[in-house]
Amino acid sequence: MNYRHAFHAGNFADVVKHVALARILAYLGRKDAPYRVIDIHAGAGLYDLAGDEAERTGEWRGGIGAVLQAQFTPQVTELLAPWIDAVQAVNRAGDGAAHGEPLRYYPGSPLLAQALSRPQDRLLFCETVPPVRDALSEAVGKDARAKVLAVDGWQALNAYLPPKERRGVVLIDPPFEDAREFARMADALIEAYRRWATGIYAVWYPIKDVRAVDAFRREIERARIPKTLNIQFDLRAVRQADALSGCGLLIINPPFTLVDELRLALGALAKVLATDGAGRVRVGWLTPER
Ligand SMILES: C[S@@+](CC[C@H](N)C(=O)[O-])C[C@H]1O[C@@H](n2cnc3c(N)ncnc32)[C@H](O)[C@@H]1O
Repeated sequence: MNYRHAFHAGNFADVVKHVALARILAYLGRKDAPYRVIDIHAGAGLYDLAGDEAERTGEWRGGIGAVLQAQFTPQVTELLAPWIDAVQAVNRAGDGAAHGEPLRYYPGSPLLAQALSRPQDRLLFCETVPPVRDALSEAVGKDARAKVLAVDGWQALNAYLPPKERRGVVLIDPPFEDAREFARMADALIEAYRRWATGIYAVWYPIKDVRAVDAFRREIERARIPKTLNIQFDLRAVRQADALSGCGLLIINPPFTLVDELRLALGALAKVLATDGAGRVRVGWLTPER
C-alpha cells in the first residue's frame, strides 16, 4: 500500500467530497435524534499543508486554496459555511500567515465529522495503516463520541451495520490503488445496503478510467438500489489518458435538500476549481425513488 492522502489533502476532490459530507451532516443535525458517522477509509484526520507531502504536489492550492480566494454569492457562501468553518477551526490565527499562506492545516473527513456532529452523535473511523491511524488518533484526541478502529473498512460494514442510532451516514473513500477497487466497492455497497437500507451512503470515486466508472455505475443500477444520486464533477473539458480529470460521488438515500444544494454549491465550485475554465458538475439520479 503506497497511497498517502497527505499528498492530495485539500485538493479539488477533497473539496467536492467534504462539501457533500458537510451538507449531509448539516441535514442530519436538524433533528435532535442522534446519528452515527461510519467513515471506513478515514485517513490521518489532519494534514499539514506546509509538510513535505502537501508541498511536493501543491494540489491543495487548486482546491481549498482556490476556494479561500474566491468570491461566492451569499447563498453559496451559506452552503459552504459549515465546511469552511471546520477548516478555519483547525487553524489558529497566524498559522497560515507564518508560512505566507491563507491556511496551514486541512481537516480530513474524520475531523470534519467531529466538528459538525453534536454531543449525542457517534463516530466510527477505520484506518488500516498503523502510522496513519496513530496520526488520526492524535488528531481526534480525547472524544468519548469517537472511536478509531484498526479494522479493515470493508469488514466494518459487516460488523457495524446497522448502527443502533438507525440514522447516519457511511463514507466510502478507498485509495483506488488496485484495479479491482471499483468491483469490490460495488459488491460491498450492495451488501451494506442489504444490511441497512435506510442509511445514507456517500461513495467517492475517481474519474480516470471511464470504462471502470461506467461498469461500477451499471452494477449499482442493476442492483436496483432506489434513490441513488450520481454527482459527476469534471475539472476540465478534455480527458487526458491516465490523469484524474474529475471525480464522482454516489449518494444513496440523500437528504431531500441535497440535490439543489449540491447543484448550486458544486456548480459554483466547478468554475473556481476548473483547470481550463471548463469545469462542470452534473447532479442527477442514477436510480430514482421507488
Ligand atoms: C482517500 S484516503 C481517505 C481520506 C479521508 N476519507 C478524507 O476524506 O479525509 C483512504 C485511506 O484509507 C486507508 N485504507 C486503505 N484501505 C483500507 C481499508 N481496507 N480499511 C480501512 N482503511 C483503509 C488508507 O490508508 C488511506 O488513509
